[in-house]
Formats: sequence, structure tokens, C-alpha cells
Amino acid sequence: MQMRPGSQEHKELFCRTFVRTHVRYEPESLAWPTLGERDLELLRALPVWDTLWQVERNAGVMVTAFAKRQPDPLVREALEVQGYEEDRHGRLIGEMVRRYDLPAESHEPEVVATDQAFLDFGCGECIDSFIGFGVFKLARDAGFMPDSLFAIFSRVLSEEARHITFFVNWLAYERARRPFLLRPSQTFAAACGYWHGIRNVIRNGKTAASGSNGAPVAGDAVFQGLTISRVLEACLSENRRLMASFDPRLLRPRLMPRVARIALTLARVPERLRRSRDGGNVEEVKDQQRRAGAEGSSDEDLHQRVGS
Ligand SMILES: [Fe+2]
Ligand SMILES: [Fe+2]
Repeated sequence: MQMRPGSQEHKELFCRTFVRTHVRYEPESLAWPTLGERDLELLRALPVWDTLWQVERNAGVMVTAFAKRQPDPLVREALEVQGYEEDRHGRLIGEMVRRYDLPAESHEPEVVATDQAFLDFGCGECIDSFIGFGVFKLARDAGFMPDSLFAIFSRVLSEEARHITFFVNWLAYERARRPFLLRPSQTFAAACGYWHGIRNVIRNGKTAASGSNGAPVAGDAVFQGLTISRVLEACLSENRRLMASFDPRLLRPRLMPRVARIALTLARVPERLRRSRDGGNVEEVKDQQRRAGAEGSSDEDLHQRVGS
């Protein structure tokens, strides 16, 4: 059973869980694999490294500065841990860029640690992480890179799952502690945060696409045949797996899984229509055969005729 948001117990649970599950490691000392030419080419062709590196470096500075402004020592401690982890993500990408000679540049972060900036960041993470969970799973299942490299990135994804779970609990805690009449203003601010997050996903997607200069995107061959349903299913299943590791009393991010479930239902409509149309065509051919006295063809033959 979930705890009442805004209570002391709720704050203790989401902050202490977050701090306790922090894992110590340094990016330089991870078991980085030696990559072959084919893998290096694939990695270098991904037009995402600039953005990823800068986003993580900015996040480290912004969350650390935001933590310093928190009056509550426990909330501050948890946010300091998150700021440290975001900075470490930036260092991890930097390490990757250096080791594998990836085409990326990063500049000194210039960020403002306002409440709205933290809200925008948290909402954006809820969107990005959910999409990242699915894309990562598909890439790993397809053998896009050696599994030892995925093992390093699965650390980052587990940390992002912790971040977004902490964020939605912090959001609910802060809202519940506000005077009733001031709560809608926080809901509005969070809605703006999600809107900014969606805009960033679109903008980063466009930047990545333009970075490929019209060249085939790396891994096209690996991901051939992917449908929107399969991507959404991967996002949902990986999100479910990662979220299952948290204390059941904690709140979970709900917006993206809900949106994805609706999108999945809609994406399956044309597939169902196609199946029922094909089924209808099979019946039609059977009728024709019956009329022509051509009974005895197998279902496979019929499907081939319908498909031809
Ligand atoms: Fe991060
Ligand atoms: Fe994060």
C-alpha cells in the first residue's frame, strides 16, 4: 500500500531509499570492452553524443545547485546524490568519447537552478528515460553492441529509473505540503515541465536526424522491421521490469506508461484490421473455391493466394 504523500514517513521513505541505493563506481574503472572496427563505426555514426554529453553535464550542475537551496536536510542529501550521479553520467559519456574517439564536443554548463528548471528537468527525464528503456532493450536484444558495453549502460538506466521515481515522489510530497489553493500552480508548472520535455525530445530528435546528414542511421540493418507496436511494447515491458525493483509503497511515474498504452492500442488497430481483412479475403477465396469445386486447398495455400 502506498504512503500518504506529504507525510514525514513518505519523505523518509523516498529520500532514504534513494540515498541507500546509490552505487559507488568511477567511470574510468569500469570494464570497458575493446571494440572492433565495425562496432566503432556504428557508435561513431550515432548522431547523439554531443547532446547526451551536454545534457548530463548540465544536469549535474543544475541538480547540485538546486540541492543546495533545499531547506530540508534529508531532501537536500538525496538531491546531492542525484547531482553527483548526473555529473558521473556526464563523466561516463566523456570517458566513452575519449576511449572510442567519438565525434562529440561539450562546453561548460551554463544553467540556472530555479524550481521550474528542476521541474522541467524531472519531467523531461520521465519522458526520455521511458523511451530510453525501450530503445536500449531493443538494441541489446538485437546485439547492436557487445553485451559488456550494454552492461555499463544498464547501470545508467537503473540510475535514471531511480531518479524518475524519486522525482515523482518528491513532486507529490511538495504538492501535498502546499496550501490547498496553491496546489494547482504546481500542477500547472509540472504540465509546463512535461510540455518542455516533449519539445526537447522533438528538438533532440531533429538535431540527431540532421546530424546524420541524410546518411543511413547506424544500426538501420539491426532494427529493420521494427514496428511502433514493438517499440512501445519494449518501453512498457522494460519500464515494468525496472519499476518492479522499488518499494511498493513508493509512487511510480504514470504519465508515459499511460500514454504508451493508449498509443499501443491505437497502433494495433491497423494491424488488427489487416489481419481481419486478410482473414476476410481467405474466406472469400474459400467461397470461390467451393463454388469452383476446388475444395481441398490448405490454409497456407489460401494465405499465399490472398497475399499475392
Ligand atoms: Fe543522467
Ligand atoms: Fe537522471
